[in-house]
Amino acid sequence: MTVPVRLRPEIAALPPYRQGKQADAHAFKLSSNENPFEPLPAVLDVLRDSLQVNRYPDGAASGLRSVLAERFGVGIDEVHAGAGSISILSQLLLATAQPGDEVVYAWRSFEAYPGLVTVTGATSVQVPNRADGSHDLEAMAAAVTDATRLVIVCSPNNPTGEVVSTHDFERFMAAVPESVLVVLDEAYAEFVTDDTAVQGESLTEKHPNLVVLRTFSKAYGLAGLRIGYAIGPAYVLDAARSTAIALSVTAMGQQAAIASLEHEEELLERVSRIVRLRDQVRQALIDQGWDVPRAQGNFVWLPTGEHTARAAEVFDRAGIVVRAFAPEGIRISIGESASVDKLLGAAQEVVRSL
Ligand SMILES: Cc1ncc(COP(=O)(O)O)c(C=O)c1O
Repeated sequence: MTVPVRLRPEIAALPPYRQGKQADAHAFKLSSNENPFEPLPAVLDVLRDSLQVNRYPDGAASGLRSVLAERFGVGIDEVHAGAGSISILSQLLLATAQPGDEVVYAWRSFEAYPGLVTVTGATSVQVPNRADGSHDLEAMAAAVTDATRLVIVCSPNNPTGEVVSTHDFERFMAAVPESVLVVLDEAYAEFVTDDTAVQGESLTEKHPNLVVLRTFSKAYGLAGLRIGYAIGPAYVLDAARSTAIALSVTAMGQQAAIASLEHEEELLERVSRIVRLRDQVRQALIDQGWDVPRAQGNFVWLPTGEHTARAAEVFDRAGIVVRAFAPEGIRISIGESASVDKLLGAAQEVVRSL
């Protein structure tokens, strides 16, 4: 086939974002770290009432931003809403990095990071995780050079589940020049039970080069509505707003997010059920002999190494759709409680057969 259009070579070579596999009717989809619960009835009511799709949304998401600003005790310009927190990360990258620049992040981490960096034309600098799956923040700070424009810290880290401690994060911030933007991706913050873990919201006032990303996709169960937010310095978020595609945050997303915050207690009760299940699943896997890193998101990580592809097939046959990152490991989301027996049965079979 002839390809007449001249594409940027690095984009033509870029594999498209690989979404977690869809599951058939009998399988459990534990491949995308989704929330197994339907939205609350009150949230569904709001959605029904906001079905006016012939009108554009409020492009500034002012209602949601003012609720969040009040909640975090910051100004409305220190809050930014996006069509998923991933959109905001893309905007921040476009605002800071260009060809010749570098973006530092831990690896393995969220699979979207490399592609987003490539799109800007900048170069990814991937710093290997420690053996326990946690970020090596000292090595990440040491990887910062004059060419670095942005560093991503992911806590809890997708897919390994480990968190960064407040202590280590503060040391890291002290080592990174203020001219470098640090993005703390806290997509799974609500699932964290470790008291020593960093909590970005308490640190943004202190650091003029820190932006914290949060999302309604995970704990609040609104993944399909694409709504996330950032807290950080107004001038940095203004730059993100300048690179954003206008009007991409839907009215339904904004209103469902506000309604979810109004009914947060009920939602967080569901989160604590997922957390309890996560801790039980992790313990059962450890009892089977697996070396599972501390899980602080809504997922667990199995270091299956060179056996990853075959192990994923075992889960697939058992009706458990997982996310395989060969040759490193498998990430399994904590979903319906009915999936747990199947999940543990398949994990046991992997131990027996590989
Ligand atoms: C670490 C991390 N950050 C960001 C996201 C994207 O979330 P959103 O749905 O808000 O774009 C994900 C989703 O899986 C994630 O794992």
